[in-house]
Amino acid sequence: MDATRSPFPLTFDPSPSGSKRAGVQTPEAPPVEAAGAVRSSPLPLDPQLRARLTALFQEGREMWDRFEVEVRQKKWHPFIPGNYERILEALLAQTPVRPGASLAPRRFLEWGSATGVVTIMADLLGFEACGIELDADLVRVARGLAERHGSGARFSAGSFLPEGYRWTPLDGDGRSGTLGDGPSAYPDLGYELADFDLVYGYPWDGERALMRDLMQRSGSPGATLLVHTGTHDIRVCSLSTAF
Ligand SMILES: C[S@@+](CC[C@H](N)C(=O)[O-])C[C@H]1O[C@@H](n2cnc3c(N)ncnc32)[C@H](O)[C@@H]1O
Repeated sequence: MDATRSPFPLTFDPSPSGSKRAGVQTPEAPPVEAAGAVRSSPLPLDPQLRARLTALFQEGREMWDRFEVEVRQKKWHPFIPGNYERILEALLAQTPVRPGASLAPRRFLEWGSATGVVTIMADLLGFEACGIELDADLVRVARGLAERHGSGARFSAGSFLPEGYRWTPLDGDGRSGTLGDGPSAYPDLGYELADFDLVYGYPWDGERALMRDLMQRSGSPGATLLVHTGTHDIRVCSLSTAF
């Protein structure tokens, strides 16, 4: 591959310090679908929309393959993609394009949006969709992907942790795993966390509790949190439900 044409510059360094990674042993799951293994969703979808999603997932997987070789094999990086087909199923259960559902757009936020596939998927499904990603190079990649797929998804570079948020678990271990530090991205988006109806995150080991805490403290009481917990598992949590 011609490095000058790569969408992944090798210069970025979003990896957290060694001390912050000390408590992290494994990702929540290494959930990589095989490149090109596009399977059709069993859910009824408009064929044109299904084709757009298939093309999006295909390009997302190809990007991941390049990212793995050009970036991750040279230096550790927290980006691991979720299982796009499984995320689609989870989003369809929440989506405003379900027959009989309200047509009012609902607001979707992806925490750590990486190459943007999931946020763009949500936009194509009818959500007003935003992604926050700490790695500014990945934000540029996501914006390019959105443009190529005719999506109005918005991406902001920065942290999904609101200004002033501190993770203070009862056991006193407030390390935030692989999550990096940076200025909060909400002011740039023009929204607060509480403005979103549906929030999606893919945490590494030990970070799920932080995500739940963040939703409970700063999310809208009516919001839903989708947490990708393994190759095929996505947990759905409304704030009134323990998970
Ligand atoms: C496990 S990947 C998930 C990628 C994508 N959400 C998916 O499901 O395919 C986690 C992403 O979160 C990003 N990240 C880490 N800390 C962050 C923070 N504080 N704010 C925003 N993004 C962060 C990483 O750079 C990485 O791209």
